[in-house]
Amino acid sequence: MKIETDTPELLSGIWRGKTIGSPLTIMIRNHDWENWKGKKLSKKTIPRPGHADLAGMLKYDVDDIQSIIERASARETAAKVAAGSIAKIYLRCFDVDIIGHTVSLGGVAAKSFPDDYNRLRATVEKSDLRCADKEAAKEMKKRITAAIENGDTIGGVVEARIFGVPPGIGSYAQWDRRLDGLLAQALMSIPSVKAVELGEGIANSSLDGSEVHDPIFYSRQKSYYRKSNRAGGIEGGMSNGEEIVARIYLKPISTLRKPLASVDTENHKAVKAPYVRSDTAIVPAAGVVAEAAAAWVLARCFSQKFGGDSIDETLRNYNGYLKQIKRR
Ligand SMILES: Cc1cc2nc3c(=O)[nH]c(=O)nc-3n(C[C@H](O)[C@H](O)[C@H](O)COP(=O)(O)O)c2cc1C
Repeated sequence: MKIETDTPELLSGIWRGKTIGSPLTIMIRNHDWENWKGKKLSKKTIPRPGHADLAGMLKYDVDDIQSIIERASARETAAKVAAGSIAKIYLRCFDVDIIGHTVSLGGVAAKSFPDDYNRLRATVEKSDLRCADKEAAKEMKKRITAAIENGDTIGGVVEARIFGVPPGIGSYAQWDRRLDGLLAQALMSIPSVKAVELGEGIANSSLDGSEVHDPIFYSRQKSYYRKSNRAGGIEGGMSNGEEIVARIYLKPISTLRKPLASVDTENHKAVKAPYVRSDTAIVPAAGVVAEAAAAWVLARCFSQKFGGDSIDETLRNYNGYLKQIKRR
């Protein structure tokens, strides 16, 4: 929301523009806290369906849901985005970049968007819905207005495109080193995300294998390449050198102005769920969070594979690896 201007402050870990090995501390103040200071808050005892409220109060044995609402809030994604920006700076050294853009909102789908990285980045950053299809974006805005008027909320789909990853990042050797698994966990743990798809994963499940797998080609100039990318750039838990494409499916946010049925946990009476300050559609914001979450995973994988105590050393290892795969 507009009051959340989210200015990160660097508290430790950086000296003259470089990390020095101490923990990198980034603080983002919660301005909402200032608005509440000194005010008496009434006890919250009615859980909202779709939120952490009910399971949280049962698990942590509290009778006031407020502490659950605060800690389970997607405000934590601001920290994710701040940390992800550090990962993005690191990935830039390898010319890796990630774009999270809205491909569907409240059932309105983007019909076309540029494949080219620079054009996609430029159009996405110009759109306040982070949607590269201008016509679809107009319809999406109408959907948001209608949802606000109805006291309802809407979900949608974000696509994260990851450019510049060489083959062989991740591994099939252990389950917890698979790049598909790592990305799925990072993206699925963004609040509201209920499904993660790699490439054409969902459509592929109902096609024949011959229609699904991306045939392999070779030319001296390009080395190994594909003419299609239904796999979304990952095979056998490793990047295959094609663009990595992951889609995340978000449920409509849970706080509704038009309240759903709930129960007052103090007296077990049937009541309506309360409304607390809330957005209507968070899909565009989730695109920014998805970039950060994917950047974190890739930065860890790059650092594990290429090591190094300085960027120059890491780049030597990286360039040596690129030479090695070219020999094949
Ligand atoms: C960037 C972002 C902002 C969000 N803002 C809100 C909000 O204002 N109101 C709300 O009810 N849910 C909001 N959510 C969604 C809730 O955090 C989410 O519905 C809740 O955590 C339960 O979803 P879960 O079952 O996936 O954890 C937001 C999610 C994200 C990613």
